[in-house]
Amino acid sequence: MANESKISELLAKRERAKLGGGEERIKSQHKKGKYTARERVEKLLDEGSFEEYDMFVSHRCTNFGLENESYLGDGVVTGRGTIDGRVVFVFSQDFTVFGGSLSETFARKICKIMDQAMKVGAPVIGINDSGGARIQEGVNSLAGYAEIFMRNIAASGVVPQISAIFGPCAGGAVYSPALTDFVVMSEKTSYMFVTGPKVTKTVTGEDITTEDLGGATVHATKSGVAHFRVAHEDEGLMVIRKLISYLPQNNLEDPPQSECTDPIDRVEDLLNEVVPANPNQPYDVKDVIYLMVDDREFLEVHQHYAKNIVVGFAKFNGISCGIVANQPNYLAGVLDIEASRKAARFVRFCDAFNIPIITLVDVPGFLPGSTQEYGGIIIHGAKLLFAYGEATVPKITITLRKSYGGAHDVMGCKQLRADINYAWPSAEIAVMGPKGAIEILEGKRISEIEDPAERNKYIAEKENDYKVMFANPYDAARYGYIDDVIEPRNTRFRIIRALQTLQTKKDSLPPKKHSNIPL
Ligand code: HXC
Repeated sequence: MANESKISELLAKRERAKLGGGEERIKSQHKKGKYTARERVEKLLDEGSFEEYDMFVSHRCTNFGLENESYLGDGVVTGRGTIDGRVVFVFSQDFTVFGGSLSETFARKICKIMDQAMKVGAPVIGINDSGGARIQEGVNSLAGYAEIFMRNIAASGVVPQISAIFGPCAGGAVYSPALTDFVVMSEKTSYMFVTGPKVTKTVTGEDITTEDLGGATVHATKSGVAHFRVAHEDEGLMVIRKLISYLPQNNLEDPPQSECTDPIDRVEDLLNEVVPANPNQPYDVKDVIYLMVDDREFLEVHQHYAKNIVVGFAKFNGISCGIVANQPNYLAGVLDIEASRKAARFVRFCDAFNIPIITLVDVPGFLPGSTQEYGGIIIHGAKLLFAYGEATVPKITITLRKSYGGAHDVMGCKQLRADINYAWPSAEIAVMGPKGAIEILEGKRISEIEDPAERNKYIAEKENDYKVMFANPYDAARYGYIDDVIEPRNTRFRIIRALQTLQTKKDSLPPKKHSNIPL
């Protein structure tokens, strides 16, 4: 009987904890189109796999009468579970308890699961929905954030870290998600900013809405803070599950390898046609990607940001790979500041987690102009160069068409330790395009020709000479910078064979504390 009452007490406490801030606040959360912290965890993880930690933790603050208001769990649901049978650690901030604000004990709960995730080598997924530092706790709350930041930093490159933003995330609180590898934001219900609209108005006079200052669209298109913008939390949770399926559990594991039913020697005749005869005509490089990868499945990262470069995950013969591809369909695939930053971060992520990198090159060069130069394209372009050069994972580069100038070097060229470099017959590998080259080489002579017809004929002849010389892959192949010129329709098979060979690749960097990538 005694035991029975103790068990009833336990069950009652569990029920109370599960209610968070109470039914009214749960209703209000649902009214805003948001799930509760627990609902999110249940939807994210394999059914029945969630093991909650610290359900009975409560705060110990006595400021502002807080001793009279306390909730079991203290505003964050933490624990572990599985995604497709693989262990992940999760925290999910509960907006129904003090607006999901972070207290000392709340931070400790998060730190506990992060510490365990590091010990067992499993990803950490954080779901953010919070009013920031719990005001009543003062500096203890700030210290709690810093404890989390420190763990985010230590875990970076050791276990994958993924953040979902499904509600407010403001002030210094934004920096924990920013330190993680991927950020998912839900449209209309989430926002992130260091300083909100009210203070912005007071300090700068700028009148701006929450959505326009830090909504999902802003961060997915303009700042690049969000890697995925989703219409609803359900979609966001599915994206996280999908993302996890491409990632190893930690930096000591190989990338996941699944069974592949898509024929590895699938010949794609369409690839022979995809590059237009006119080198100035665009095409969608995503068509190329879909045709090559297993089951036409490609998880694009940063889909709406710097669209002139495409990055994302796919599988070849079941092996997870990162794909980086210039996009001729957008700004002719030129490299600019945003594209360089986007791709550099992606390459570094892949390298940190042993994910081979497949690079598809069709790049006319770097975007010229004062905006780019004043914005530091030199530094940002160098990031991408650095990331490729430093990466020791298997690197396979396929030049589809243009590969000009500095951009040629940056996009995974042989000398940046790419392992296998193939080119399609449509490749053009040179210092610059024919038009620009002839303007520079023949400018003086051209200006001396007075008759326009004569002049155009001369230019056409010279451009043609240049094309014969450089607008093909064979000059680069002559020097061994390209290992082979391949038929486009065989590309899938050639990539898979290269990956098989490179599975046992070992490469390293000289011993150092860390590099000094141009930040
Ligand atoms: C304590 C908080 C809180 C906070 C919200 N609440 N934020 N309690 N500390 N930071 C409580 C509210 O009192 C309320 O309690 C409940 O949560 C829901 O809040 P509402 O305001 O009713 O909700 P809503 O209208 O949806 O507005 C949400 C909000 C707003 C926009 C997040 O609450 C807000 O502006 N909060 C303050 C945000 C902020 O300035 N935080 C500090 C940022 S600085 P009841 O009992 O009524 O349900 C920071 C520094 C981090 O975070 C530094 C890290 C280095």
